[in-house]
Amino acid sequence: MKRSNTAARDAWANEARELGHRLTSAVSVVVLTGAGMSAESGLPTFRGGSGALWNDQRPEDLATPQAFDRDPKLVSTWYRERRVRAAAARPNAGHRALERLAKSLGSFTIVTQNVDGLHAEAGSADVVELHGSIRWSRCIACGDRKRGSLDGPLPDLCACGGLMRPDVVWFGEALSPPVWERAEGSAREASVFIVAGTSAAVYPAAGLVHIAKHAGAFVAEVNPEPTEASAICDLVVRAPVGAFFPELLAVVQQRS
Ligand code: OAD
Repeated sequence: MKRSNTAARDAWANEARELGHRLTSAVSVVVLTGAGMSAESGLPTFRGGSGALWNDQRPEDLATPQAFDRDPKLVSTWYRERRVRAAAARPNAGHRALERLAKSLGSFTIVTQNVDGLHAEAGSADVVELHGSIRWSRCIACGDRKRGSLDGPLPDLCACGGLMRPDVVWFGEALSPPVWERAEGSAREASVFIVAGTSAAVYPAAGLVHIAKHAGAFVAEVNPEPTEASAICDLVVRAPVGAFFPELLAVVQQRS
């Protein structure tokens, strides 16, 4: 076990050197993150692991407008639990390293599928939140937004009497067009595109990997497990983000 850990770390060190070299000569860098980015902050992922089911229901069956119409209390309770966990969670070493990488490099955009707000909490400035933010709610009647509640009866009501829903994108809903345009534009312009902590199974987010690849980016994956994006990556790093990104940061800081 000890020997294989050492071998894995040697491999990460080589991969960090290769990717670090690419980053320091890149004109623009994009990092696409998913639930695995926050796993080391204690937040469960969606597919696999202990968070894959909630009260015997799949997230895909709860994160829909139809589920909210049918049972707003049930869906609000699931989101309340996730919001409370996100509020208590702290950015991990991976989030912090990305924030510092952005400062060391020129153009650096984080595009995240996560709704937990942890990239911003780590201090990252240029973050595109593709799926919205669990920290906010919006009224389905008048559209007013306010901070999502952490306690009190559910479902939350707006001052106008309408139901408050989490300000996130649900399955079957379109992404906000300006948000998608920013994400797609940065993927097209990326010289290095890193896909980290996502199963790359949910579109259109996962399509950004293909957009970047076709536009000529060097594409690297950071994930302990193979994903649907692995086959098109130029470099695959089988490591957790909390171990690899600090190592990558050290390489970049040495070179710049
Ligand atoms: P998934 O749960 O599908 O995938 C999480 C990925 O993180 C897996 O590939 C894991 O191997 C990887 N992983 C776990 N721990 C890791 C670590 N420490 N470091 C690096 N990788 C790690 O989550 P997403 O791909 O984010 O959408 O899911 C995409 C979307 O599906 C979510 O945004 C959400 C969900 O339903 C909506 O709610 C619209």
